[in-house]
Amino acid sequence: MESTLVVRKAHMDDVKSMHGLLLQCAQKGLLLPRALIHLYGHVRNFMVAENAAGEIVGCCALAPVWEDLAEICSLVVRDDLRRMGAGRDLVNACLVECRDLHIKKVFALTYQEAFFARLGFKVVDKSVLPQKIWLTACTAPSTPTAMKPLFILNWIPLHRKQRNTCPRLKRSRSKN
Ligand SMILES: CC(C)(COP(=O)(O)OP(=O)(O)OC[C@H]1O[C@@H](n2cnc3c(N)ncnc32)[C@H](O)[C@@H]1OP(=O)(O)O)[C@@H](O)C(=O)NCCC(=O)NCCS
Repeated sequence: MESTLVVRKAHMDDVKSMHGLLLQCAQKGLLLPRALIHLYGHVRNFMVAENAAGEIVGCCALAPVWEDLAEICSLVVRDDLRRMGAGRDLVNACLVECRDLHIKKVFALTYQEAFFARLGFKVVDKSVLPQKIWLTACTAPSTPTAMKPLFILNWIPLHRKQRNTCPRLKRSRSKN
């Protein structure tokens, strides 16, 4: 059965759902936990994926860190909807934002090498990132020691055309 997902900018009303999705993954050590107050304060950085029932089933943030550099972070798709293209759509929506902001480089600190490789990201040495970035990530108290250092990826040429291939989800992007 075909389902519909819309990827759009997050609203304040979405924050509790985003928090729930992120918390589940943070408890598994897949990403850093985000407090509600952080999410409310950074809501303008977030994209969400919403299903036809109005449920928030994924989110992703674009956090600018310097004049030409931004981080893709807090990326999650609900378990039952993975491998259907939602993660790609969320990241691509953030890359569109990058272009709008004239940001030329984007990176992610992640364990999901295969997923980001499918989107054209490349693994880079942490030394190419500002020291503050990887130092903060690798010394976060909530990161289990066994999982350090975080896997570091990217530099994506933003002129690349982003690919949409998923046949199972009908997707659209809303400005609202
Ligand atoms: C990472 C995550 C967001 C991917 O979302 P998703 O909706 O399943 O990803 P997509 O379906 O858009 O996948 C895009 C491509 O990557 C591939 N892919 C996705 N996850 C993959 C994995 N774990 N291993 C290998 N390939 C993977 C897909 O098969 C697809 O390939 P295609 O180009 O052949 O179509 C999701 O697995 C998730 O929420 N993981 C837990 C949280 C997490 O680790 N977040 C990352 C923190 S930065």
